[in-house]
Amino acid sequence: ATGSTPLGLYAELAKLCAEGKLSFAKCTTFNLDEYIGLDGTHDQSYRYFMNKNLFEKVDIRMEATHVPSGAVKSDEEAEQYDAEIKAAGGIDLQLLGIGNNGHIGFNEPDDHFSKGTHCVDLTESTIQANSRLFDSIDDVPRQAYTMGTQTIMYARMILVVANGEAKAQAVHDMCYGPVTPECPASILQLHTNCVVVADEAALSLCE
Ligand code: GLP
Repeated sequence: ATGSTPLGLYAELAKLCAEGKLSFAKCTTFNLDEYIGLDGTHDQSYRYFMNKNLFEKVDIRMEATHVPSGAVKSDEEAEQYDAEIKAAGGIDLQLLGIGNNGHIGFNEPDDHFSKGTHCVDLTESTIQANSRLFDSIDDVPRQAYTMGTQTIMYARMILVVANGEAKAQAVHDMCYGPVTPECPASILQLHTNCVVVADEAALSLCE
């Protein structure tokens, strides 16, 4: 997962790795999503984010890290991503953040749950939320590739991290709302091994 929420976790993993208490030498990773139109050298691409915040700070083999490619729009290439995950043996642990509108990866509220990795049109709410990281809102890509909801649900274990009041409604709806594609994270109620770690502000609507 990218976003500001997992930054503390990534810093902690890098620290443990530097102290020799953890190794990523045998790990393979698959990221959830990537903006379309940004190549991996763009400082707002998710490939760049992962390299800077985790991969370059631990002993992972760079060739074992996978991020959907957004540099050139290719739906065929995106569809290959699920085959690559399957060929690697599936995902043991999927780390997830949650969007203010309940999105996971870039699976936005919709009238159906998505399946495999695919292209999405970002909602105004997500464009607005993510514009804080760009020079101007016009620079925020309008589309992205994301693992589908089904891809995410195939993971053997899911860890969701959330913090801050802005996530309170989404966290409540994820845990206690109806299971509906209007809140994509609500499908996680049906996963058999999903853990949510959140701060008090994000949990403030969960009584
Ligand atoms: C982005 C990412 C998600 C992330 C979410 C929350 O749009 N595509 O994977 O979970 O926003 O980000 P943050 O942790 O910065 O609130």
